Amino acid sequence: MSRAGELQPLRAQGDALTIDAFVERLALWDGAAHSGERPRVLAGMVGSADGRATVEGRAGGLSNPVDRALLRALRAPVDAMLVGAGTLIAEGYADLVDAPHRELRVARGLPATPLMATISRGLAPALARVPLFGEAGQRIVVFTESEDELPGCGADVVLERFAPGQLTARGCLQRLRASGGVRTVLSEGGPTLLHELVRERLLDELILTIASLLVAGDGRSVVHGPVFEPPVALRLDDVARAEDYLFLRYVPVA
Ligand SMILES: NC(=O)c1ccc[n+]([C@@H]2O[C@H](COP(=O)([O-])OP(=O)(O)OC[C@H]3O[C@@H](n4cnc5c(N)ncnc54)[C@H](OP(=O)(O)O)[C@@H]3O)[C@@H](O)[C@H]2O)c1
Repeated sequence: MSRAGELQPLRAQGDALTIDAFVERLALWDGAAHSGERPRVLAGMVGSADGRATVEGRAGGLSNPVDRALLRALRAPVDAMLVGAGTLIAEGYADLVDAPHRELRVARGLPATPLMATISRGLAPALARVPLFGEAGQRIVVFTESEDELPGCGADVVLERFAPGQLTARGCLQRLRASGGVRTVLSEGGPTLLHELVRERLLDELILTIASLLVAGDGRSVVHGPVFEPPVALRLDDVARAEDYLFLRYVPVA
């Protein structure tokens, strides 16, 4: 704890953690929901040191091997993921969970991969071309206001409809909890979806990687949308580093 006017140096405290041990400390395997109404919601994002969310339109240029491994490890214990349509399409999602984590999930009584939930009001046709939608056995739910259908996909895809103007992240989370029994959700954004999760006070924790890169330009920041007035305060609950990357765990202050 720092006293007024003091800066605490960021030194190694205790032994280095494996990535799985870092994730274990989040107690996601316990599967405790936020409430009866909605799941616990954790977001995993990476930003440059100047706050940008992409390099050449994708997050990959910001990431490093530890960040990539952490993001994949965060998927291992959750019941579901919630990822905006923009991100699924831009990043070309596929193959959510590595083989050892699949085995761990099954050993702990979970399906081999988390349910993938996405939001697309207009049911973007490009979703059908996301590789994940072609993976046999992958469960996907698409929340939409559209009456359209997606062309045949190899994955197990369910369309959940909302009336026009009624599709909200809160509504999606409530449905996931009520009809899907989902207790924990990992959101990997994107920035537009994360803005709504924060604005609607649906975000319980943010795992934010700060990449040791400066990007500049006018690309999206990690949270994209109208200014929060007042800004949303965060409590810093954990800090780790790997090489020049920082890994921060924040909890929004109610
Ligand atoms: N740095 C990182 O950690 C990180 C993480 C994720 C993504 N990214 C990058 O961010 C970019 C995508 O950003 P984005 O903000 O456009 O993507 P996004 O948040 O993944 O998707 C936004 C889209 O989701 C749909 N949507 C429908 N209902 C929504 C609702 N209630 N709330 C929010 N979204 C809703 C909308 O599509 P419809 O028009 O179909 O309704 C909207 O255009 C990509 O370049 C990706 O690479 C970076």
